[in-house]
Amino acid sequence: MDKKTIIYKIICAVVVIGVAVLLLSGLLNKGVRTNSGPLTGEDVKHVTVKAPEETAYDGTIKADAWQAAFPEITLSMKANKDNAEIIDYLEQDPYLVSIYEGFGFAKEYGSARGHEYTMEDVHNTARPHAMANCLTCKTPNFAKLVETEGVSVYTKSFDEVWEQIHSEGENISCYTCHGNDAGNGGALRVTHTYVNKALTGDALSSIDPATVSCGQCHIEYYFTPTDKETMMPYRDVESMTPEAILAYYDAMVLPDGTVGFSDWTQESTGAKLLKAQHPEFETYLLGKHASDLSCADCHMEVKLNEDGTVYHSHELVSPLDSEAILATCVRCHGDTNMVQKVRRIQDSVTTKERLVGENLAAFKEALADANKAAAEGAVGAKTEEQLTAVRKVYREAQWFFDFCYVENAEGAHNSELAFRCLDLAQARIDVGMELLSMEPGTSMTAEEYIETASRMLEEALKLLGK
Ligand code: HEC
Ligand code: HEC
Ligand code: HEC
Ligand code: HEC
Repeated sequence: MDKKTIIYKIICAVVVIGVAVLLLSGLLNKGVRTNSGPLTGEDVKHVTVKAPEETAYDGTIKADAWQAAFPEITLSMKANKDNAEIIDYLEQDPYLVSIYEGFGFAKEYGSARGHEYTMEDVHNTARPHAMANCLTCKTPNFAKLVETEGVSVYTKSFDEVWEQIHSEGENISCYTCHGNDAGNGGALRVTHTYVNKALTGDALSSIDPATVSCGQCHIEYYFTPTDKETMMPYRDVESMTPEAILAYYDAMVLPDGTVGFSDWTQESTGAKLLKAQHPEFETYLLGKHASDLSCADCHMEVKLNEDGTVYHSHELVSPLDSEAILATCVRCHGDTNMVQKVRRIQDSVTTKERLVGENLAAFKEALADANKAAAEGAVGAKTEEQLTAVRKVYREAQWFFDFCYVENAEGAHNSELAFRCLDLAQARIDVGMELLSMEPGTSMTAEEYIETASRMLEEALKLLGK
């Protein structure tokens, strides 16, 4: 071997060993942050700072008082003011006015906007709000009032509580998600007491706190019949499905001894209906990301400020508008164009939603006509029992449609669930329409009619594979 060959071999050996060391350290470093890739929540430094002494009249610490300790976080929270636009859903989807007839949402139903508008929007809404319970998801000062005075606060008049809290009250603020513990490394605390009643033990601890935090409000809820307390209609993730929630409402025993909860009775159809709210928490927890990501992972950017501190921006953004958040999708989705992926899902969900919504409105009008004919004692009109059977089918159709419609991600959180809800609604619409169009005078007894209704529904659902 001449000198050249030896030098060559040494160089080769060094290169091979070098590559091996690099590969190995790469493997060993898995899960530990290297300097490449987008910033994630794991890069955030959690510092403990002394809480400000200054508190509001009710003992909550206001955002302004935290600003000295957490300037970026406080300012980014206030940037939710930039999300100001409201889409008028009643104008966009006119069939809603018919479906929601008799309920506040038929008067006004605009899209949600940023957290900095909650007090303004709840005060100005054209929807009636007799009781203070409407303030549940708008201000930490109401949550604090419930914490200190108990559930009796919910039935106080809206105006009385508004007078008490509005001049000093904040929009959704630090206290909502952290209590007064934000200085304690940003510890999250549930301040909405009903969450701790509905979800306990494993049912709560199995959910990421950064998801529960949003789940204090971005949920399906109802007001309990006696106390008008805000409450979630389930006790764990398994019972968060729209089917299970419907069963929960159907089985609820009311103070007057009757069975079956409803938000309102619709005059023209006589149906006892449910109004779904914004079930983001449920829809997301039943979806594909539940075990890996929190709401914060997709809606709060991780940012690096000038002095090198890494923090969560508290401006709640669409991941599609954020290069930083989109960069985190790559880990699992590779080079898929995520904006396109999401928009495709949303387009197909909203297209189907419109179709089913229009069919639902047509079903509602047909039921209202049948109801009217019966009230007028018209020849061939349906009997009260028959109408009751159809009203039940309508209640269910409206529920499944609404569960999809009012979820704010339009399928992005869980397209399978969105389509399932629309299919379940459409199956009921078909059955209901068929029942209504049966020849008058068919010699069916009320029981036979109800039986036929449930058999048809069973068949329709079997066809759907549901
Ligand atoms: C105290 C209740 C509450 C909590 C907690 C809460 N939200 Fe909200 N959120 C609301 C309300 C109410 C609105 C609508 C405000 C309006 O339109 O006036 C809203 C609006 C939003 C919007 C804007 C929606 C749009 O269409 O532009 C986003 C995004 C959002 N929230 C995400 C989150 C995330 C993520 C979390 C958890 C980190 C969270 N929210 C926690 C009550 C809450
Ligand atoms: C995997 C990422 C991901 C997770 C996790 C996630 N979301 Fe979303 N969310 C999205 C996408 C994508 C949209 C659609 C955004 C758009 O249309 O611009 C969206 C839309 C929303 C909207 C409507 C407002 C808007 O910006 O369009 C709200 C409110 C919302 N999400 C709340 C939540 C809540 C609450 C959680 C947790 C329970 C959560 N999200 C979890 C990705 C996510
Ligand atoms: C709507 C709920 C919400 C509000 C309002 C809110 N936070 Fe947070 N905050 C969170 C969540 C969720 C996280 C943790 C995100 C994670 O770890 O995934 C967090 C994290 C933090 C952290 C830990 C450091 C970091 O950047 O993650 C601090 C400190 C903090 N928040 C302070 C504040 C202060 C101060 C305010 C008021 C100006 C505030 N937060 C308002 C939900 C909220
Ligand atoms: C921890 C891994 C992981 C990360 C990170 C992740 N996803 Fe996913 N996502 C999945 C898996 C697994 C699926 C199911 C398979 C599929 O549809 O690609 C999925 C599906 C989806 C779907 C389809 C959901 C449905 O119900 O149809 C959307 C939309 C989506 N992801 C958006 C995002 C966005 C936006 C981000 C980044 C903000 C992101 N994901 C980050 C794992 C991840």
